[in-house]
Amino acid sequence: METRTFYPETGIERVRRLIEGQSVRYYVLTLGCQQNEADSERIRGMAEAMGYAPAAEPEEASLIIVNTCAIRRHAELKALSIVGRFKAIKTERPETVIGICGCMAAEPHMVEHIKKNFHFVTFTLEPNRLFRLPELVATALMEQRRSFVLGEDDGRIAEGLPIRRTSDHRAYVSIMYGCNNFCSYCIVPYVRGRERSRESAAVLAECRALIENGVKEITLLGQNVNSYCSDMSFAALISAIAQMEGDFLIRFMTSHPKDVSDELIAAMKKYKGKIAPCFHLPLQAGSDRILKAMNRTYNTEHYLSIAKKLREAVPEIVLTTDIIVAFPGETEEDFLGTLKIVEEVGFDMIFSFIFSPREGTKAAKMENTITEEEKNDRMARLLAMQKEIALKKNLPYLDRTERVLVDDNAREGEGNYIGRTAGGKLVRFTDTKNRIGEFISVKITKATPFDLFGEAVD
Ligand code: 5AD
Ligand code: SF4
Repeated sequence: METRTFYPETGIERVRRLIEGQSVRYYVLTLGCQQNEADSERIRGMAEAMGYAPAAEPEEASLIIVNTCAIRRHAELKALSIVGRFKAIKTERPETVIGICGCMAAEPHMVEHIKKNFHFVTFTLEPNRLFRLPELVATALMEQRRSFVLGEDDGRIAEGLPIRRTSDHRAYVSIMYGCNNFCSYCIVPYVRGRERSRESAAVLAECRALIENGVKEITLLGQNVNSYCSDMSFAALISAIAQMEGDFLIRFMTSHPKDVSDELIAAMKKYKGKIAPCFHLPLQAGSDRILKAMNRTYNTEHYLSIAKKLREAVPEIVLTTDIIVAFPGETEEDFLGTLKIVEEVGFDMIFSFIFSPREGTKAAKMENTITEEEKNDRMARLLAMQKEIALKKNLPYLDRTERVLVDDNAREGEGNYIGRTAGGKLVRFTDTKNRIGEFISVKITKATPFDLFGEAVD
């Protein structure tokens, strides 16, 4: 994978001059995955560099951005309904700039739909051209013109954009963008383009700066994070970060089974205290026939062999996965194969989705005769089985003392906090002190399928 980097001229200064002296605010709404969260941090960074202050509500903002997701139809409908609500703001204050970023802004039919039916939307901007945001804002402010940026991706990576991170102790670091796999159900290669990796020097410098600033957890991001490839492999990159001085944890997502190298597994073992003992490894289906139709390029035997190797290297590893239910042509027998492998691996958690046809993908054209009733029934059976497995996985944590990174106050009230174990399990616990952003010890007193509960110990 070739690395081609550039430092774009963004036009931030131009907007800064245009809005000088005004008290203007921005509002960003993020839908979808961690990649979008990370992109939103760049959107916020650019908005603040332009001179906008954060707004608590969209009604107070003169720049509103919706960062959208296109992975399933449901995600798109949700985004459209949210965007629809902003029409009233535009009617009341016509100078409001409303932009749509993210994966929906990279779908030609969606951009056409927005152009025609959402006249109050000022611009759409495809994810790989995020650096053009200030320029589009300037065009809107100066010429009251709408813009639609689509199909401009040239495979390069824009470095040097300002970032306003949402947390002081957890940070996302994008290391690669795009996808070359073309799984037959997936829209990502069409909306995020071909794979490209950041230069390792840029990634390492960003991580070093974060750690020096007290960040306790770095999540390396990429649609295919473990196929990262520059002058270093992913395993070499993660090892180099793990060797940095400091008390911090590294996570990464999302991985493809075809790129889980022995070198990566060895690194996870070698740098156990630094690389979090967890692995999110999408399985998608437990039938070799369906995996083939999905173009996943591995079979169940290979997947099981990776899970085994990971468990041998890091026995306490927390394994999580994604499953698609009711892919076109999935028979009851295929589905039973999925249940079997889910049980065999014993995932700590699964994220399961009913297949959603995405325009332009191969699977959208496949005949799908599975009834709605059958789809829902399979999903319910999968979830019921997983609930039992998850409880079995969580019960051994009872009475253990876990190292937890404290994230936030819990909604339940004072003295209640939430945090995550090194393996990534959510813990709800009580503490007499507020230690958000610190690693602390929590004694686990209760375990349910989805959460652990406990109390802080000094
Ligand atoms: N329908 C349902 N689920 C999908 N995913 C990706 N594309 C689709 C689709 N068309 C799921 C996969 C992926 C996760 C992020 O979303 O399981 O790993
Ligand atoms: Fe959704 Fe995929 Fe885009 Fe993330 S990369 S926002 S999951 S479509």
